[in-house]
Amino acid sequence: MTKQNLQSNRKFKRYTVTSALPYANGPIHIGHLAGVYVPADIYVRYLRLKGKDVLFICGSDEHGVPITIKARNEKVNPQKIVDIYHKMNKKSFEDFGISFDIYSRTSMDLHHKTASDIFRKLYDKGKLVEQENEQYYDEENKQFLADRYIIGTCPVCSYEKAYGDQCESCGSSLSPNELKNPRSMLSGNKPVMKKTKHWYIPLNEYEPMFRQWILKENKNKWKPNVYGQCKSWIESGLKPRAVTRDLDWGVKVPIENTEGKVLYVWFDAPIGYISATRQWAELNNTDWEPYWKDKETKLVHFIGKDNIVFHCIIFPAVLYAEGTYILPDNVPANEFLNLENDKISTSRNWAVWLHKYLEEFPAKQDVLKYVLCAAAPETKDNDFTWKDFQARNNNELLAIFGNFVNRTLVLTQKFYDGIVPEFCKPDKAEKQTIKEMTGFAERIGKSIENYRFREALNELMNLARLGNKYLTDAQPWKIHKTDPKRAENILNCCLQICAALSVLSEPFLPFTAQKLKKMLNISPMKWDSAKKEALLPRGHKLNKPQLLFEKIEDKMVEEQLKKLHIARQENIEKEKPNIEPKKPNVKFNDFTKLDIRTATILKAEKISKSKKLLKIQVDTGWDIKTIAAGIAEYYSPEEITGKKIVVLINLEPRNIRGIVSDGMLLMSKDNDGKPVFVTTEKKCENGSQIT
Ligand code: MF3
Ligand code: ZN
Repeated sequence: MTKQNLQSNRKFKRYTVTSALPYANGPIHIGHLAGVYVPADIYVRYLRLKGKDVLFICGSDEHGVPITIKARNEKVNPQKIVDIYHKMNKKSFEDFGISFDIYSRTSMDLHHKTASDIFRKLYDKGKLVEQENEQYYDEENKQFLADRYIIGTCPVCSYEKAYGDQCESCGSSLSPNELKNPRSMLSGNKPVMKKTKHWYIPLNEYEPMFRQWILKENKNKWKPNVYGQCKSWIESGLKPRAVTRDLDWGVKVPIENTEGKVLYVWFDAPIGYISATRQWAELNNTDWEPYWKDKETKLVHFIGKDNIVFHCIIFPAVLYAEGTYILPDNVPANEFLNLENDKISTSRNWAVWLHKYLEEFPAKQDVLKYVLCAAAPETKDNDFTWKDFQARNNNELLAIFGNFVNRTLVLTQKFYDGIVPEFCKPDKAEKQTIKEMTGFAERIGKSIENYRFREALNELMNLARLGNKYLTDAQPWKIHKTDPKRAENILNCCLQICAALSVLSEPFLPFTAQKLKKMLNISPMKWDSAKKEALLPRGHKLNKPQLLFEKIEDKMVEEQLKKLHIARQENIEKEKPNIEPKKPNVKFNDFTKLDIRTATILKAEKISKSKKLLKIQVDTGWDIKTIAAGIAEYYSPEEITGKKIVVLINLEPRNIRGIVSDGMLLMSKDNDGKPVFVTTEKKCENGSQIT
């Protein structure tokens, strides 16, 4: 198979590079980094070194149901939640060295204005379809149940806790009406249907555009995983998609008489990229529009695979309908990263959190960045393990890159007092090595431009390997007494490779590159300077060498593994269902006073005055009793008729809403709080005693 050329052939004047706005309801973990921020940062740092005009955008996604649910659970205002995580994530990205030009947020006024204006423009141009239909509603909480407020059984994989917008077990994207056995996240109740009005973007009208733009023009340009998902969406028929919700947290719908309605989070969040650009432009006294509207701007979205349809179909449809914006040139989405062979999960606390990592290893940003790039889930899901982290640090960064640089600089100090020696009359090996060295900038650059970051990083390490092998084979420490001119040439050659490494490693290992430049006593240089044969002139004075990397011991790996497992265990304890405390002991005689027997439900009916009660007739083998049970919201009369159950038959009759209830059904509750019948393991005659 030939490699695809993901890069467009066109020449661009400027680049707008976005990376998915993380939800401000939790910290950043290595999955986010490997999938989105590490590759995006490499790409951007490379473009800057190439002297391009590039704007790198990110910020917090502060709307959406997961945030309001968390706020509700913690009994605080959603703003409080997003304030905490916005600050925290902004700082972790900074400390980690992700070089955003701006880290904005969607709760800012300018974003609300930008998103409302775009919505309003679509509305005014007649690009939105207004539709009234029935949606799930929680009567107890008086609230419509958008997206994650509703859970139920997935129609595809039968997972019982699928959300109204997506099943996290099989990944299917769902609409609330597809869920079986729907329940409200708020009350656990079965929701009712209620009429409500919303605005839709008629994606179906853009099908020809998508067929042309994605299926034809981007077929061999976009990554196969991205192209594949888009293709399957387009071919299964694009449908109108609601862009508003009945919620009170988000950007208010900018139309009269729409109290209690906001823009759908996936409508406003990507517009956050535009708002962030506007904010950046204001701060820098420049014009934002060329970054979004000039055809000579290359727009690239870095995202994870769960964001593909939003960035390739829905957001482009909005931009296209608006009419003045450009569409993305590429959307290099990654697959997912696992951790120690298990899915990363915030709710199960199975993750390596960036802020924690930085607290523990404040000077090891580059090691993590290296490992996450080397093991990036570019074409399939991949696994992060601490053992691999250690091995890549010790056997690659330290043994190859660090070792080569260190030996070169230490020898230069020792033999030449830290001054770059002369290079003259090179022999064949020297000429060959220098020639090879000058080819790396182009190759690494091409890989980066084609979003093949693992390949690019491997090429960078090949340059270090080249130097390391050359130095080992040439042995200047041996010949420097007998053939001093040759030794000078060898070390000069190695120093030139160190200088090239200090330029070419910058996108991948920015802290290391800076340290190395300082040791070499050189200032920042453009990417293409690494194509030169000699970056360091003869007589140039170097600074004292320091070690670039440290060995990682087994103990550290063990500690990290232990921490992971402890965190998961603590989380399990925390999440354990609340089991009712045990009641005081009773005498055996007290127990035998209860007359509990097997029975069969003969008939059940709804009670007109109550939503909760069913009037049930049971055959106890001894008589026929009437019992009122509060299960009407969970069971229909038909589905329980004929059921074998267990009944307490000598409970004093009670009057419940006009029914004389003469006994009690024995029931428990399942994990979701739904009442379930107590039954016997095998069928018994009606009236068999339970003792
Ligand atoms: N917050 C979303 C997520 O974490 C990503 C939003 S990307 C944007 O999956 F484009 F919508 F901003
Ligand atoms: Zn499913």
